[in-house]
Amino acid sequence: MTAPKKGISNWIKFGVPVAVVVIVGAVLGGVLGSRAANNNKNSSSSSSSNSNSSPSGEAAASSAASVKNAVGVYPTGTDSQYLLPLYPSTTNAAAFTSPTFHPSANAALAWPQDTFQPSNPNTTAVRPDRPRLIAPAYKWQALPELIANDPYLKEWNNTIFGNATAYYSLPPVAYYLDGASGILDNAREIKQRIKAFSYVYRLTKDKKWIDRTWSELQNAVSDNFGPNNDTKWNPGHFLDTAEFTAAFAIAYDWMNDAWTDDQKGQIRANMITYGLNQGLNQYNSGSGWWTKDVQGNWNCVCNGGLTLGALAILGDDNSGIAPQILGLTVPNAVQNCAAAATSDGTWTETPNYWYFGTTGHAEMASALMTATGSDYGLLKGKNFDKTGLYHMYVTGFGSLFAYGDHGPNKFSTTANAMFLYGDYYNHPEYVLFQRDQHDAQEPWSMFWYNPTVAGAFWDNMPLDHYFDDPTDQWAAMRSSWTDADAAYIGIKAGKLTGHQTHNDLDCGDFVIDALGTRWAGELGSGDYLSTGYFSSDAQDSVRWLYYRKRTEGQNTLLVNKANQLVTAAPSVKHDTSGTAQGSSTVLDVPGDSTAFWTTDMTSAYGDATSVKRGIRFINGRKQILLQDDITASQPIMWRMHTNATVAVDQSGTSATLKIGDQTLTMQILNPTSDMQISTGPAQRFADDPALPTGQSDQPNPGVTVVMINMQAGTKSLQVLFNPQWSGMSSSDYKTPAAVAIDSWSLQSHN
Ligand SMILES: *[C@@H]1O[C@H](CO)[C@@H](O)[C@H](O)[C@H]1NC(C)=O
Ligand SMILES: *[C@@H]1O[C@H](CO)[C@@H](O)[C@H](O)[C@H]1NC(C)=O
Ligand SMILES: *[C@@H]1O[C@H](CO)[C@@H](O)[C@H](O)[C@H]1NC(C)=O
Ligand SMILES: *[C@@H]1O[C@H](CO)[C@@H](O)[C@H](O)[C@H]1NC(C)=O
Ligand SMILES: *[C@@H]1O[C@H](CO)[C@@H](O)[C@H](O)[C@H]1NC(C)=O
Ligand SMILES: *[C@@H]1O[C@H](CO)[C@@H](O)[C@H](O)[C@H]1NC(C)=O
Repeated sequence: MTAPKKGISNWIKFGVPVAVVVIVGAVLGGVLGSRAANNNKNSSSSSSSNSNSSPSGEAAASSAASVKNAVGVYPTGTDSQYLLPLYPSTTNAAAFTSPTFHPSANAALAWPQDTFQPSNPNTTAVRPDRPRLIAPAYKWQALPELIANDPYLKEWNNTIFGNATAYYSLPPVAYYLDGASGILDNAREIKQRIKAFSYVYRLTKDKKWIDRTWSELQNAVSDNFGPNNDTKWNPGHFLDTAEFTAAFAIAYDWMNDAWTDDQKGQIRANMITYGLNQGLNQYNSGSGWWTKDVQGNWNCVCNGGLTLGALAILGDDNSGIAPQILGLTVPNAVQNCAAAATSDGTWTETPNYWYFGTTGHAEMASALMTATGSDYGLLKGKNFDKTGLYHMYVTGFGSLFAYGDHGPNKFSTTANAMFLYGDYYNHPEYVLFQRDQHDAQEPWSMFWYNPTVAGAFWDNMPLDHYFDDPTDQWAAMRSSWTDADAAYIGIKAGKLTGHQTHNDLDCGDFVIDALGTRWAGELGSGDYLSTGYFSSDAQDSVRWLYYRKRTEGQNTLLVNKANQLVTAAPSVKHDTSGTAQGSSTVLDVPGDSTAFWTTDMTSAYGDATSVKRGIRFINGRKQILLQDDITASQPIMWRMHTNATVAVDQSGTSATLKIGDQTLTMQILNPTSDMQISTGPAQRFADDPALPTGQSDQPNPGVTVVMINMQAGTKSLQVLFNPQWSGMSSSDYKTPAAVAIDSWSLQSHN
């Protein structure tokens, strides 16, 4: 096990007096301070509301460029284990104000208006100039000046050039059929390369990128590429077909001025034969299950790829297939893909599948808007305005609260829909959050990013958020947005059906991060090729035989070692002190700052009359209490999966967990004599129902299950987690009173 990389924050510790070092302020303070003082009377569309010293209006806009260039790309690097940004410490209130888009007073930071504004948009009435897809010509013309004035665009441009150069010297992507995800990895890797090649071609006009792209395109239709010569792009797993079609569409459109007529003809013919015709067949033959009431990534990716392909060739092909495809994909995606975020913005599948779904959705919406002037309802009025918030809160300091399946490799899939959504829905915090992430450095970002964005995503951002839609009731609570060593809790209840069969039987499941590492974590996907893995989400589904999907493979309670009931309909309650971070990356959490979330998940259990679980911060978010109040007629088992090494003390009521050089202790408060901590492997029980013949579970190397076994009866199990923060002595830790979950309040554990 590798030790977590030490971040910045040995001195951003709770309750420890902090020596505030103003790094950026030293550079900028004078400039901004004086401008702000002279110009803070004008009110404007800038919403720098909670900082007296922040500039506003034109002044802010004109200073924005100098602020940007002086601050630069803000994170100092990326956490080596989780790839999350590391923020230096600053209290520079001038630079890190409320998230906002500044008005376009400073032309150097703003995109020009698109002059293609049809009054009656129609999917078949395409803009007159190319490119049509995502990045029209006027944006390419504006790009060099924006790159010169925005440090993020500058960095991304450099990285894309570097990546394209690296791909250039590689052989074309080798055909590989992965049983679980077909040739999806091939498709997405090729798409990733083609995006980079096309981008660099447009900025250099060097024909070498055309030739290199041609070899990649030829390879993807060559003899022996694909499991079947006639269909080539594996339409039986239509995601693959859709992503190949999208890749070819980008090459066709972005490099359109450089292809010979013969090359264009070949690209169109391949796109039609192996992509669009197959798509038509999916719709018309009924084989496209993903067209039927599928609110998830399949609908977004498949419709998105077909749409990009059709838009790319519209008008150049007179077979009629392009308008036919658009007549099917657009209304279908509006009805299904666009319904894949629930009322609170949560993705209906899982936090990882959010990436696939939103990438497909954003590409489709963006391409329709640039090519034809409308999104036809893919964006407007949908819950995607909140799905950026979902992504921000589901991201903890030990990576995502990654409940359910993780999905395949990402390649061309990123979180950069955050840029499109942030701009479209006026949520600058999505843009500010995403621009610091490692996956921001790719071509879509260059066109979806609105460079007039200013401020800090964390400024005034509440530490806690509760997502209450019954599909996935869940909570995120943390002690900072910018300290990689801070505490994070993710916990969920929600329904156990209706997630495109990507969920686990996991009401009550939680993760805990602290001290730069994850202490309670997820096991992720099982083997997608396992017999019956996706058979259904019914109670008797084969899926629920596999350890990683079973309730025993989650961080929750078992009664009688049984799976939870798929009919579960939990209820939740919660409250928060409402603590929000300020403009500083250094947050001194007040002692009375707290948050809790509780669920009544009795309906998930067969042998219990009451099962309630609650989790909360105590002692100014330095400690975490997890409590279960249960009445059950069969034995009860508490389970938590950890990468830590675990030492249980003599009494069996406390344990010390170590990861790298970090320590967390856990202790049962007020234990009854039957409550005993023990440890075991992350494996199915010997008396679990048998797996299908020849099937086995994935091994979970390095993972230990911490268990607390109890007899049947009425129990209140209180587990206190104490991360061993540096600078805190044992007397600084509190032992909370015992309070029934039904009586929890913000003050109940003071
Ligand atoms: C203040 O607002 C007025 C009226 O909108 C405008 O003419 C002026 O340029 C603004 N001044 C500054 C410094 O933003
Ligand atoms: C879009 O254009 C096509 C072809 O010109 C036409 O048949 C169709 O009615 C138009 N659709 C709308 C919604 O205007
Ligand atoms: C983009 O990056 C490349 C490689 O670093 C550089 O040569 C080029 O000038 C950059 N483009 C712009 C517009 O700055
Ligand atoms: C692109 O380049 C960056 C910077 O060198 C590198 O970290 C990243 O891994 C590259 N991405 C790919 C997909 O090769
Ligand atoms: C595809 O066609 C080529 C050329 O006819 C042939 O050599 C190859 O074996 C075929 N591949 C498959 C998978 O049928
Ligand atoms: C163990 O660490 C790996 C790598 O960071 C992570 O993917 C996994 O979720 C962790 N498992 C647990 C149970 O925390």
